[in-house]
Order: sequence, then C-alpha cells, then structure tokens
Amino acid sequence: MKKVTINDLVKWKQEGRKFATSTAYDASFAQLFESQGVPLLLVGDSLGMVLQGHSDTLPVTIDDIAYHTRCVRAGSPNTLLLADMPFMSFSTVEQACDNAAKLMRAGANMVKVEGGSWLVDTVKALTQRAVPVCAHLGLTPQSVNIFGGFKVQGREEEKAEQMVKEALELQKAGAQLLVLECIPSKLAARISETLDIPVIGIGAGNGTDGQILVMHDMFGISANYMPKFSKNFLAETGDMRSAVKLYLEEVESSAFPGEAHTIA
Ligand code: KIV
Repeated sequence: MKKVTINDLVKWKQEGRKFATSTAYDASFAQLFESQGVPLLLVGDSLGMVLQGHSDTLPVTIDDIAYHTRCVRAGSPNTLLLADMPFMSFSTVEQACDNAAKLMRAGANMVKVEGGSWLVDTVKALTQRAVPVCAHLGLTPQSVNIFGGFKVQGREEEKAEQMVKEALELQKAGAQLLVLECIPSKLAARISETLDIPVIGIGAGNGTDGQILVMHDMFGISANYMPKFSKNFLAETGDMRSAVKLYLEEVESSAFPGEAHTIA
C-alpha cells in the first residue's frame, strides 16, 4: 500500500468517497489491516477495555499508548497512524505537548484528543508545533463519569447546536480530523457537511466521511459487550481477512452502517 496521508482523506471527502478505518494495538493485526487496504489505524485508549479488561478507558497511561503505537507502526509502515491521548494526559497545554511528543516519537502521524471548546488552545499549540490533531466529540469515553454512563450524546437541540459550534471551533484551531461517537445520525451528517476536514463516525450513522470500529467489535470478540451500532463481520465471512474486506466494501458502498446499526 502507498503511504497514506491526511491529504488522501481530504481528497476522498471532496470526492464523496467513503472510507473505513479501525483500531489496532499490535503488529500482526496492523499488518493484516494494512494488507487489506485499511488506510488509517487508531491506537485507541479502548485498549484499556479490550486488551486490559477494564470497565472503562481511564486506567490507560501515555506509556501504554506509546508502547502499542510502536507495535502497530512496526506492522503497518504505510497507514496513517493515529494515537490516543489518554485520560489526564492533556490537562494543560504543556502536558499535552510533552505527551504528544512521546506518541509522535513512537510512530504516530497524529494524536487524538477528547473534548470540545476547552481544547482550542491545546489544538493550536500542538499544530503550531507540528503535531497534527484529530478532535473527538459526542460520547467521549474519558467523560463516562460526567455523562453517568456510556450514553448517546447530542439528542437535545441545545446540545446538538453546541456540538456543531465546538466542531467548527476545533477545525478553526487547526484540527485536521474529527471523530464523532454515538450521536444521532442526522447531527453527524450535518457536522460532516459543515466541516471541511474529514469526519469519521462510530455509532453516528452513514452520513460521515469515514467510519471507525474497535477491531474486537468488528470480529465479535470484545471482552465486555458488543455495542448495538457495531457489526460482527467475522460471523458473516468466517475468516479475518475477508471480514476486513467486507467491512471496507460495506463502508465504501454505504451499506454499513445500515438502519440496524444507526442511532436515530
Ligand atoms: O479509543 C478508541 O478506540 C476510540 C474509538 C472508539 C474512536 O476512541
């Protein structure tokens, strides 16, 4: 696979070409994903749940993410590699810069931060220092204790308007990608149409530019539970490579996520 850059994703958005992405945490799966043509991989702090067996992502440390970023980079030299900034690793701008440096040195091409307007200065500082940033809005799992559980976000009109505003602010601050998690599909489609940067959805319907799945959900092997918006592609195909291929095809054709996997 040719090296993928953020410019490819922007071009695909402009062309209306949907793309499928996944989380990955180790070299073998990273290689499998790259060999099937997955353009972007995320070393997500979901590793706290699917690898470490915790009930949320809060115990994950920057060293955990840096370690898994090195593993994934070793297996997939050409994918665009996103690494998550874990809970409390970007509380101040200075701390964000120090920790982002660890992830970039581990092989990431971009870091992802969960949160809205309060991150504007952080996003500016990181991008000015040559660290590309992916923002993350909606059900941001690091805020599970504020939300009172893993709950759909943005249902109320006021909250939806606030999310559109924050997405624009983060784009203006320099964010080059946005992940929207667990929000009504109409709101996700509106944000995707409003922004110039590519928007990747998970549990956000098929109106976003790209999709992402936690790889354990894609294969139906998650330790905790299977989110309703996810789909077990391995069950349909019987082998992992075909499962990834089917996922890519279904996202490109907008067959996934269909109604059964969409939050209205
Ligand atoms: O940590 C993660 O895997 C994520 C995705 C769910 C987007 O943030």
